[in-house]
Amino acid sequence: MSLATAPGKIILFGEHAVVYGRPALAVPVTQVQANVEVVDSAEAETWIEAPDISLHTTFSALAPTHPLRSAIESVCAALNIAPFPPLRITIHSSIPVASGLGSGAAVSVALIRALASYFQRPLPADKVNALAYEIEKLHHGTPSGIDNTVISYAKPVYFVRQSPSPDGRGAGGEGQVFNVARPFSLVIADTGIAAPTKESVGDVRKLWEADKAHWEVVFDQVGEIVRAAKNAIETGATDSLGALMDANHALLQQMTVSSPELDRLVLAAKTSGALGAKLSGGGRGGNMLALVKPAAADSVASALKSAGAKSTLITIIQ
Ligand code: PMV
Repeated sequence: MSLATAPGKIILFGEHAVVYGRPALAVPVTQVQANVEVVDSAEAETWIEAPDISLHTTFSALAPTHPLRSAIESVCAALNIAPFPPLRITIHSSIPVASGLGSGAAVSVALIRALASYFQRPLPADKVNALAYEIEKLHHGTPSGIDNTVISYAKPVYFVRQSPSPDGRGAGGEGQVFNVARPFSLVIADTGIAAPTKESVGDVRKLWEADKAHWEVVFDQVGEIVRAAKNAIETGATDSLGALMDANHALLQQMTVSSPELDRLVLAAKTSGALGAKLSGGGRGGNMLALVKPAAADSVASALKSAGAKSTLITIIQ
């Protein structure tokens, strides 16, 4: 029997500008997790159970491009295990799906680790990351690679994408893991509004195409914020992250990717004691985050609920 877990992730700074080659920072969110258990099975074939999404299926019934099938096949190929014995694979996840918290990448990483440990051949994080990136492509087409990197290393990552893809989204990138000198607390709140990242990315592209000179300056400003934030996290000057969040949110508003709901939550966080707040990820809906002193976390979370958040979670980045 073997068990593995992987955290969620959230983008701290730099979303959207990252599509244009500027850096972004993302951190693991350990309060939500994907868990995968792999055990021997007496059945004739491998069964996969994911009760949270009502999935109960055999391996062979999965479509050839299904991310779970691909994860199992790629681990077995990487370990030279063929054919693999009948298994029972059980997947649980408390990471909300399609909300920018990296649920797909976390399931992939936990599944890869659980299988590798079941076969008593644990894989190094860079190998797990490379396998998970291939599976991300099945989920997202052209992922930036930020989710699988943060989740595989379970560490903050400073990420720069490598080369543009025709639709302007990620085409892989370079993730640099870095350390947190002093832990800091975040409250993450979900607007409950599903907003496709593809649309907000497309709208920013239209703005950029109409006035490249202007938007390049804005993206440069985001890049400066991201570099300053990384420096603050590495040196323990975490209180200064609040002002950097506010500045990044203002630039995201200019990019038209905020929304009345997100702005209402950002304002509620600030007026209830947060040191700074911003939307996170694609925007227009999805999540926002607020930097808080640990003692203020509960009251900021309840202010966010009163201001319309569907759910909140408090996490410590360390
Ligand atoms: O919502 P998330 O966490 O998947 O982040 C989207 C980030 C963008 O910069 C808006 C798009 C991208 O591909 O980097």
